Amino acid sequence: MRLLVTGGCGFIGANFLYAMRQRHPDWLLVNLDKLTYAGNPGSLRALENEAGDRYVFAHGDICDRKCVTAILNDHKINAVVNFAAESHVDRSIDDPSPFVVTNVLGAQNILDCARRAKVGRVVHVSTDEVYGSLGPTGQFHESTPLAPNSPYSASKAGADLLARACHETYGQDIVVTRCSNNYGPFQFPEKLIPLMYAKATKGESLPVYGDGQNVRDWIFVDDHCRGVELALLKGRAGAVYNFGGASEMKNIDVVRTILRLTGQDENLIRFVADRPGHDKRYAMNFDLAAKELGFAPSVSFAQGMERTIAWYQANSVWLDEVQSGAYLTFMDRWYKERT
Ligand code: NAD
Ligand code: DAU
Repeated sequence: MRLLVTGGCGFIGANFLYAMRQRHPDWLLVNLDKLTYAGNPGSLRALENEAGDRYVFAHGDICDRKCVTAILNDHKINAVVNFAAESHVDRSIDDPSPFVVTNVLGAQNILDCARRAKVGRVVHVSTDEVYGSLGPTGQFHESTPLAPNSPYSASKAGADLLARACHETYGQDIVVTRCSNNYGPFQFPEKLIPLMYAKATKGESLPVYGDGQNVRDWIFVDDHCRGVELALLKGRAGAVYNFGGASEMKNIDVVRTILRLTGQDENLIRFVADRPGHDKRYAMNFDLAAKELGFAPSVSFAQGMERTIAWYQANSVWLDEVQSGAYLTFMDRWYKERT
């Protein structure tokens, strides 16, 4: 396999590249990443050192037709996994524009270039947030109508519909995956779990939105990566697959777990103004992925959190390095406005 992975310097992309290198050492892995504030080439240093000519990094934008086409042709790519995106809901509330550019136009460019270059398969990585919000019961199925509530999820839903249209119109080989909340190594500390870890270890207050009762279905990142790999290797062209962790947790309980694992006091918890349009609950039904792909999450929330906290403890330099520049500018303003 000669695989193009986009957004490989981000959280899930980096974990995916390491997993593919380990399980398929003969594959060529090409990583196209724009290196936005969320892209960190340092996350892939070990892969770069170890993989030799089986790993190539290309600095570029998925919106750039010339760049994407050249990569597909020069490396004779036969499959693409598109992770590249603007991924943080709060930033999309602050400014939706870059989300529409990368998540809609960039995704469309990837689909278009792949079709013209006759690439075999595109796996488009999407999210459970395209379904909107659940009440206290029920689950999202692949047939649940799309009802995105944030600019981020609307942009992801737009790309999902383009992927569907390309399959229907051109017969293009595209598989869409929708996963619930990931956590694990290399996650950028603007997202709940690494943010709360970073704040707890500095003894800073932990900003919980609203009443902390919102529920997310947490999945350890390795399990998501396995799902994407299965979709790439075994997915049905034109299919959509849900992945979830079967691990529903209230935000406040996630925060308490982090405080317990870091030995910090619950007095650090501070309830702040809610996220506008905050989805109440996500829960994924992944029966289809279980049946057609053999997908099942293998890491419990307790195991995954222990591994995650241990990783952040052992990688404090990585964490310090990413908490600078553009990161601080947004975070300072965002949280000042909420407290
Ligand atoms: P991330 O923000 O950590 O990483 C995104 C990466 O994409 C970064 O390396 C960034 O530099 C790169 N990028 C951004 N714009 C680009 C562009 N125009 N061209 C090339 N590269 C660009 O994101 P993540 O959390 O790793 O999410 C990866 C994908 O998985 C996204 O598509 C996201 O929607 C999806 N997803 C994430 C989760 C989650 O819990 N994090 C869950 C389900 C789906
Ligand atoms: O569900 C999949 C999605 O999960 C992905 O598509 C997104 O890319 C990813 O960012 C994530 O979105 P969420 O909005 O669910 O994740 P986040 O970590 O931002 O927030 C998780 C929950 O924690 C959410 O209910 C909001 C809450 N929260 C978050 C932050 C950053 C807080 O209470 N305080 C905070 O400071």
